[in-house]
Amino acid sequence: MPELTMPRRTLMLAAAGAATAIVSNPAAAAPEKPTRKPLPFDPKAVSWLSEKLLTNHFETNYSGAVNRLGAISAEFAGLDLAATPGYRINGLKREELIAWNSMILHETYFAGLVAKEAPSAPLAQTIERDFGSLDRWAAEFAAMGKALGGGSGWVILAWSRHDSRLVNTWASDHTMTLADSAPILALDMYEHAYQLDFGPKAAAYVDAFMQAVSWRNANVAFHRVAT
Ligand SMILES: [Fe+2]
Repeated sequence: MPELTMPRRTLMLAAAGAATAIVSNPAAAAPEKPTRKPLPFDPKAVSWLSEKLLTNHFETNYSGAVNRLGAISAEFAGLDLAATPGYRINGLKREELIAWNSMILHETYFAGLVAKEAPSAPLAQTIERDFGSLDRWAAEFAAMGKALGGGSGWVILAWSRHDSRLVNTWASDHTMTLADSAPILALDMYEHAYQLDFGPKAAAYVDAFMQAVSWRNANVAFHRVAT
């Protein structure tokens, strides 16, 4: 490691000056604008959801979240924090978290709608370890989805870094993910995900998802976070 050539006091003064500059500068560097990922499938090729529903879901709900995230983050970066009331900071940060998680969870959900693929051996073995069997996992996941029918939210298969295990978690809105977990598979239970094709029959939508779900992205996500 090279030796520091600047005298200690000079370093301390420089650090103090930098800190003063940061505090007195009302605006932070603008964060990189988020970009939307294209749908990972042809919406015409999904047999159990219509092209219209999938296109609306992508263009309105997912893209809306990505656009909001960019706008909110840019607005926050431009705040003069000393002159900004707490309620505005709270509001922007709350909306940022909603949009951010909505973006991530929709990308996870759409990735499960590609052509059907089975769980990899390591993922299947970990599901058996943590849930008893793949059938038991599926029964829990589907029951949680049906329980959200008529309301809204997400069912998420996640890897808990804290407990080093897979868990099914419930979320009644985008913000309610398990701390220190990574989503592996997600089921969107907001009505916009199924109403156009299934009407109020949320249970039929859940059953169709469970029949058609692809583990392709889940296999990659699990390998990335858990091995
Ligand atoms: Fe959605």
